[in-house]
Amino acid sequence: MARSLVSFLLPCFRTSLVTPLIFGLLLQPPLTQLSIVTQPNIVLLMADDLGIGDVGCYGNDTIRTPNIDRLAKEGVRLTQHIAAAPLCTPSRAAFLTGRYPLRSGMDAINNYRVIFWNGGSGGLPPNETTFAKILQQQGYSTGLIGKWHLGVNCESRNDHCHHPLNHGFDYFYGMPFTLISDCQPTETPEMDRAFRRKLWLSTQMIGLVTLTAALGRLTGLISVGCKTLACLAGFSFLFFVSWYSSYGFVRYWNCIMMRNHEVTEQPMVTDRTTSFILRESISFIERNKQKPFLLFLSFLHSHTPLITTEKFVGRSRHGLYGDNVEEMDWMVGQVLDAIDKEGLKNTTLIYFASDHGGWLERQEGKRQLGGWNGIYRGGKAMGGWEGGIRVPGIFRWPGVLPAGTVIDEPTSLMDIYPTVVHLAGGALPQDRVIDGRDLMPLLQGTVDHSEHKFLFHYCGIHLHAVRWHQKDSGAIWKAHYVTPVFHPPGAGACYDRGFCPCFGEGVTHHDPPLLFDLSRDPSEAKPLSADTEPLFDIVIRKIGRAIEEHHRTLTPVPEQLSMYNIMWKPWLQPCCGTFPICWCDKEGENKLANL
Ligand SMILES: *[C@@H]1O[C@H](CO)[C@@H](O)[C@H](O)[C@H]1NC(C)=O
Ligand SMILES: *[C@@H]1O[C@H](CO)[C@@H](O)[C@H](O)[C@H]1NC(C)=O
Ligand SMILES: *[C@@H]1O[C@H](CO)[C@@H](O)[C@H](O)[C@H]1NC(C)=O
Repeated sequence: MARSLVSFLLPCFRTSLVTPLIFGLLLQPPLTQLSIVTQPNIVLLMADDLGIGDVGCYGNDTIRTPNIDRLAKEGVRLTQHIAAAPLCTPSRAAFLTGRYPLRSGMDAINNYRVIFWNGGSGGLPPNETTFAKILQQQGYSTGLIGKWHLGVNCESRNDHCHHPLNHGFDYFYGMPFTLISDCQPTETPEMDRAFRRKLWLSTQMIGLVTLTAALGRLTGLISVGCKTLACLAGFSFLFFVSWYSSYGFVRYWNCIMMRNHEVTEQPMVTDRTTSFILRESISFIERNKQKPFLLFLSFLHSHTPLITTEKFVGRSRHGLYGDNVEEMDWMVGQVLDAIDKEGLKNTTLIYFASDHGGWLERQEGKRQLGGWNGIYRGGKAMGGWEGGIRVPGIFRWPGVLPAGTVIDEPTSLMDIYPTVVHLAGGALPQDRVIDGRDLMPLLQGTVDHSEHKFLFHYCGIHLHAVRWHQKDSGAIWKAHYVTPVFHPPGAGACYDRGFCPCFGEGVTHHDPPLLFDLSRDPSEAKPLSADTEPLFDIVIRKIGRAIEEHHRTLTPVPEQLSMYNIMWKPWLQPCCGTFPICWCDKEGENKLANL
């Protein structure tokens, strides 16, 4: 009843002169009520690969992030904000669905732990309900600007079954994939090199099969002799292979920009990507200021190859990586200014986070190209150690959330889901497990503890560690069952492989598990034992029972990152042109037309 009244009143809140009056009246009851009725705009800012140690308000005194720091000063800063996975694809899947990634089949069963191609068939399943979809149904304008990395197609080139527009976003501008070094012609390509070596054969095989099939169809129509056919197939195959290998094909297949369903740049022109992403974000705010909107600005910063505009190169004290972080902070400032300018500051909830920890192994010689995780052990790709999963998490909503607050309770990126769904007046799906918890009571200070008792830390589908927040004592126990083998030993990272694995020879199993109390030892430096910790056995048993219970909530689902789904498939490759000749620069054309 209250809900329907609220939705009935909503149009007035937005447009009429009654607004100040109603606001005035609402200021009397507790703030919680205000937050339920206003359907705030929601702006989610997500950095890519940014470490918790890279941000000023998290203790970095040499990198300059004044705009992110301003958000924290005017809002709530979370010190124990945890990603559900240590890599982009699974972490973002969990973020958008409010569920551990293995519930949607979005975490790795093998060594392919993220989506590798725009032309793969895996991705966020169409039957998952993102918060964007619920907000869309609640009357929000929903936009995603920037990185997606959750798949594109299922069965044909333009079915876009995994595409943002099929997952609750009205508008999309950005990369369906992720930045990789291959996108920057001046950089050493990372994927191209690896794939030329490893997947060369399988890619060629697919090419061959496709061509033979195509030619088979052709011969049905014009009945060419068998020998001619073989000859043709051979020629086409050779053409395909030589065309392929001479172009840095990864760049053409993966480094593309799209606007809604249309490919606008293939390959993308990296020099202008940053300014386009900023322009699109600001214009989305301006276009939608009259009704509630959800803007998910999913930065390409600070992922390698660290595309940085001239103006910021050489400005920081931490090389290109620092320059890139400082540029992203400047972009955050531009977005905040746009919100202020439109008078939306008090009606907009802003959130800033990173998808997972910084990438320690990413170095060239002494040059740091990846993020820094401060006092926390480990980094990107490590499911258990804090450095891989503890990220910045900041909320700002003036007048509703108390300014300058710091909260040390365990929270998860999955919590955004129920939080924004409730703010929009929507209901959570009842037919599935949602792992996130509404953060508003904690953020507003009406409760002292987060609802999370246990958090499960996965590496792919392998459970590496579990955190137990023992609320009465304040202890944050963390038991590690599996840890990666560092190389060189004690290095805190896997420099021999580029990133740490989840299973196999590269990991150590612990029985009994390694136990830490993060409230006393946040760096996970000294494991406790039954001799040093009287509660050791009790804690391990308690966590063991929680794991059993958690396992009972899991059901098998199709594996989105299976070998088959990961593979590049020519018939799924988004293509601007006639496959396999895919090339366009629509932004360039537009620019010329405008002159
Ligand atoms: C600040 O960030 C830079 C860049 O990641 C890092 O090299 C440096 O160690 C950090 N400083 C502190 C005090 O954390
Ligand atoms: C926004 O909220 C702040 C803090 O409650 C208040 O001081 C300010 O006057 C409000 N601004 C507007 C435009 O309502
Ligand atoms: C989505 O479909 C798959 C395959 O049919 C099924 O296993 C899964 O449970 C479904 N997910 C939801 C959330 O309904």
